[in-house]
Amino acid sequence: MTNKYMYFVANWKMYGNLSSLNTLDKVIKFSKSKEIKRGRLIYCPPNTLISSFSKKFRNCQIGIGGQNCHESKNYGAHTGFVNCHMLKNIGAHFVIIGHSENREKGESDKLINQKIKSALEAKLKVIFCIGETLNEKRKKKTYSILSKQIKTGLKNIKNKSNIFLAYEPVWAIGSGIIPKPQDLLKTVKFIKNKFKDRSTKVLYGGSVNPQNITNLREINNIDGFLIGGASQNAKKFIDIVKKTYT
Ligand code: 13P
Repeated sequence: MTNKYMYFVANWKMYGNLSSLNTLDKVIKFSKSKEIKRGRLIYCPPNTLISSFSKKFRNCQIGIGGQNCHESKNYGAHTGFVNCHMLKNIGAHFVIIGHSENREKGESDKLINQKIKSALEAKLKVIFCIGETLNEKRKKKTYSILSKQIKTGLKNIKNKSNIFLAYEPVWAIGSGIIPKPQDLLKTVKFIKNKFKDRSTKVLYGGSVNPQNITNLREINNIDGFLIGGASQNAKKFIDIVKKTYT
């Protein structure tokens, strides 16, 4: 159980369409209840739904974010991409950057650094994803990988107050497997120690669900969760939040 202020970020990935909007009513009602007094819900739907989500959440405190952005803060000939100003313009307050599903497609730490700078300039809060692969974990490289991702990803960024770190071990995403509690506690501590500002928020992501949340909530240095699959189901998402506090 926790009394801490926690963040619950729903990453819908490439799922959802206009009919998904109906499923949000339950969550909106829940967001106004006493049960979520000490926390914030944030939805990151696909870009096609950001504007509709923004209208839907007009009278509540639920945040909205994009799932990625182009590195350029300028408009330009980049077919198929959107920049941070465009996300902001349709109602986003946050953007996920550096997700492993994009790193796997060639997004480098350097490119991620450019995207983060561009997002901060557009006054978006950044959910900066880091995490090691199974192979890297087996070779005991977790800490060196995380150090490199943080160092290059945040190069020349002085003010980090609008950056949330999201530790998502690649092997835990969509696998149903979560790290051992003692390992997760140590890794989150390792990440926090990289920052002078001890108020840096670190979220955990990877197979979070209403069952394993009772173990995850015991890890007292985590500031919230980045939730994929389970977040598309309103009941499961609400259950995760409720169980974090009970
Ligand atoms: P799952 O919760 O489906 O494992 O996804 C985690 C994730 O990638 C969130 O960004």
